[in-house]
Amino acid sequence: MKYNLLGNTGLLVSELCFGTMTFGGEGMWEHVGKQQQGEADELIKKSVDSGINFIDTANVYSFGQSETILGNSIKNLDLNRDELVIATKLRGKMGDQPNNQGLSRYHIFNSVEKSLNRLQLDHIDLLYVHGVDSVTSIREIMRGLNDIVESGKVRYVGVCNWPAWMVMKALGIARQEGWHEFKAMQYFYSLSGRDAEDALIPLSQSEKLGFMPWSPLAGGFLSGKYTRDNEKAGGGSRRDEFDFPPINKEQTYDIVDVMEEIAENQDCSVAEVALAWVRLQSGVTSTIIGTKNITQLESNINSTNVDLTDDELSELNKVSSTTKRYPFWMVDRQDSDRIPGSNE
Ligand SMILES: NC(=O)c1ccc[n+]([C@@H]2O[C@H](COP(=O)([O-])OP(=O)(O)OC[C@H]3O[C@@H](n4cnc5c(N)ncnc54)[C@H](OP(=O)(O)O)[C@@H]3O)[C@@H](O)[C@H]2O)c1
Repeated sequence: MKYNLLGNTGLLVSELCFGTMTFGGEGMWEHVGKQQQGEADELIKKSVDSGINFIDTANVYSFGQSETILGNSIKNLDLNRDELVIATKLRGKMGDQPNNQGLSRYHIFNSVEKSLNRLQLDHIDLLYVHGVDSVTSIREIMRGLNDIVESGKVRYVGVCNWPAWMVMKALGIARQEGWHEFKAMQYFYSLSGRDAEDALIPLSQSEKLGFMPWSPLAGGFLSGKYTRDNEKAGGGSRRDEFDFPPINKEQTYDIVDVMEEIAENQDCSVAEVALAWVRLQSGVTSTIIGTKNITQLESNINSTNVDLTDDELSELNKVSSTTKRYPFWMVDRQDSDRIPGSNE
C-alpha cells in the first residue's frame, strides 16, 4: 500500500480509502448494504492489516448507523486512533426538524457533535460537506467550517459534489478572510463517469487539493458481473435494485468487454482492472472502495498490485471517452496551437 499526501497538507493517506456506506442498512440504504458489527469488524481489520489508514463514512449513511458501527469497530479491534484518518460528512437530512440538515453554522456544529458521539471520538480528521446547500450562503458555510476547525473538533475540511465554480468561490472567500479552506475533494469518478476530468480534477490540481473518487466501480457495474447477456447480477447485488450512480450502460458494456481481455492478460479480476485505472489517473489521491464481503475487499486491495501498461490504459481511455461538453471541447481546440508545432 502506498501513501499519498492529501493535497498541500502534510497528511499521508493510503492510496485506497475504505468506504463504510454498506454498514447498517437503515431505510433507503437497505439496498446498498446491511453489514452489522461482526462483519464490519472483519472488514475494517482486513483493511487496516493491509495498510489502509483512511476510512470514509457520513452522518447520513443509514442515518448514523455507519458512524456508530465504525466507532464500535475502532474500539472492538483496539485500533490506534492516532494511526487512522477518519473522514465523515454532513449535509443530508438527519431528521424531520427543519434545521436537522444543510450546511448552516447551526447544523455544522450540531452535526459534528452528534458524529463525534456516534464515532466515540474527540475529533474528526476530515469533515466533508456532502453536497450543495442552496439556501445557506457560501460565506456562512466557510465561516462555520473555519470555526469548527478552530474548535479542535475537526482537523481538515473538504467538499463533495459541488460544481467547480462553487468550490473555487469558497476557496476565494476562505483565502480572502484567512479562514481554513477545503483541502480535499470527493467526487464520482470511474471508467463509466469521467465528467470530473472537465473542471473538477483540473481544479484540484491547480489549487493542490486531494482528490478522492467515490463509486470507482460505478456501484458494482464495472466489476464484470454485468454484461449485455447478464443485465441482472443476482445474489442481492446492489445495482439490481438501486440504479445508482447513473451511467451509460451501453458504453459500459463495451468498457467491460475491453476490461475482460485486460484482466485475462493481467491475471486479475475485471473489478481490479477498473480500480487500477482509477488509481493510475493523474491527480487521484485515494480511491474510496466499497465492499459487500471479505472476498471483494481482498480483490479490491489486490488492485493496488495491478499496473496497467500504456497500451492497456490508452485502450481503456478510448473505449470510455465521451464527447466533451462546451466549453471544454472549445478549450481543447483553441489551446491546441498555443505552443508552436504542438498541433502538427
Ligand atoms: N460523497 C458521496 O456523495 C459519495 C457517494 C457514494 C459513495 N461514497 C463513498 O464511496 C464509497 C464507495 O462507493 P461505492 O460503494 O458506490 O463503490 P463502488 O466500488 O462503485 O461499488 C461498491 C459495490 O460494488 C460491488 N463490488 C465491490 N467490489 C467488488 C468486487 N471485487 N467484485 C464484484 N463486485 C464488487 C459491491 O456491491 P454488490 O456486491 O452489491 O454488487 C459493492 O458494494 C462509499 O462507501 C462511500 O464511502 C461517497
